[in-house]
Amino acid sequence: MEPPSGPASRRHVPWNRLLLAVSLLTFWTPPTTAQLTIETMPPLAAEGSDILLLAHNLTENPLAYAWYRGERVDNSQLIASYRVDTNATTKGPAHSGRETLYPNGTLLIQSVTQKDTGSYTLLVTKDDLQTERQTGHLHVLLSLLTFWTPPTTAQPTIETMPPLAAEGSNILLLAHNLTENPLAYAWYRGERVDNSQLIASYRVDTNATTKGPAHSGRETLYPNGTLLIQNVTQKDTGSYLLLITKDDLQTERQTGHLHAPLSMQFSSQEY
Ligand SMILES: *[C@@H]1O[C@H](CO)[C@@H](O)[C@H](O)[C@H]1NC(C)=O
Ligand SMILES: *[C@@H]1O[C@H](CO)[C@@H](O)[C@H](O)[C@H]1NC(C)=O
Ligand SMILES: *[C@@H]1O[C@H](CO)[C@@H](O)[C@H](O)[C@H]1NC(C)=O
Ligand SMILES: *[C@@H]1O[C@H](CO)[C@@H](O)[C@H](O)[C@H]1NC(C)=O
Ligand SMILES: *[C@@H]1O[C@H](CO)[C@@H](O)[C@H](O)[C@H]1NC(C)=O
Ligand SMILES: *[C@@H]1O[C@H](CO)[C@@H](O)[C@H](O)[C@H]1NC(C)=O
Ligand SMILES: *[C@@H]1O[C@H](CO)[C@@H](O)[C@H](O)[C@H]1NC(C)=O
Repeated sequence: MEPPSGPASRRHVPWNRLLLAVSLLTFWTPPTTAQLTIETMPPLAAEGSDILLLAHNLTENPLAYAWYRGERVDNSQLIASYRVDTNATTKGPAHSGRETLYPNGTLLIQSVTQKDTGSYTLLVTKDDLQTERQTGHLHVLLSLLTFWTPPTTAQPTIETMPPLAAEGSNILLLAHNLTENPLAYAWYRGERVDNSQLIASYRVDTNATTKGPAHSGRETLYPNGTLLIQNVTQKDTGSYLLLITKDDLQTERQTGHLHAPLSMQFSSQEY
């Protein structure tokens, strides 16, 4: 039954690169026209919410749809299938009790959890008995949102770059609007200034960086107060605090939280 249209060899696109594409809101579109595409709605979902895997540009008059876990068509990994002629939905061994397959090929996953991460494949059987398929991957993304803003003006603010990052990628916690002529910076895990939670500190007068007990080996503190976290993992989620010591020995601080929402991006792998 396969392969259908498209190159015979499967395109290997690293998932990390796909995710960076997601955060830039541009992703690779297959060169063929009117190809089956999958869109997730919402594009980013918090754990516990519902997501729709919308199937677009389905073939006209399809005979059946089937959704699988994984990147292959494997009956032991069937979530659900739908036959158009009988309107019959069949649940498979990989059905978790939270999936609903609609007559238009769209799959609803309710109360999404981290256990739902991994690959998904939609198989469409056309009226000429040829099949089309599309595979995608549900990722965990990390993002930092500033949740506490001090009431003073021109306060330091923290921005994450990129705003969303895949596990394994690098993120910058950019410190903006820092006081002029600061004496020192320090980054902590948590929401309090607690030396046992120090990641790293920097003294401007000596250019000296000191690593603290909460340094994982993956953080770099730059002279401008920005923190780089390399190879970010889910263990990095939680609160972060930046403490700035000003030249009058007063301190300013900013706290943020690194979250792990879920996102699904469908690649355009062709078979
Ligand atoms: C469906 O295919 C048409 C024709 O190739 C294309 O213009 C359109 O963007 C596609 N829609 C989606 C949602 O992929
Ligand atoms: C398919 O049906 C579901 C449920 O009615 C709907 O939410 C979804 O938008 C439909 N998909 C498309 C691609 O229109
Ligand atoms: C399937 O559903 C469609 C519309 O929902 C309906 O017109 C058709 O009669 C149904 N077919 C069967 C076999 O139930
Ligand atoms: C820096 O502070 C000024 C004055 O309060 C504000 O207008 C500006 O948006 C701030 N910049 C950033 C990047 O937070
Ligand atoms: C601070 O320095 C780093 C490393 O040179 C740079 O990537 C970052 O953009 C700088 N931060 C700001 C807020 O300019
Ligand atoms: C710290 O770095 C700055 C610029 O990078 C340099 O001008 C200064 O001499 C350095 N100070 C010390 C104590 O090394
Ligand atoms: C990040 O991961 C890459 C590939 O696994 C590894 O080569 C590199 O040393 C890691 N960097 C840090 C700072 O852990």
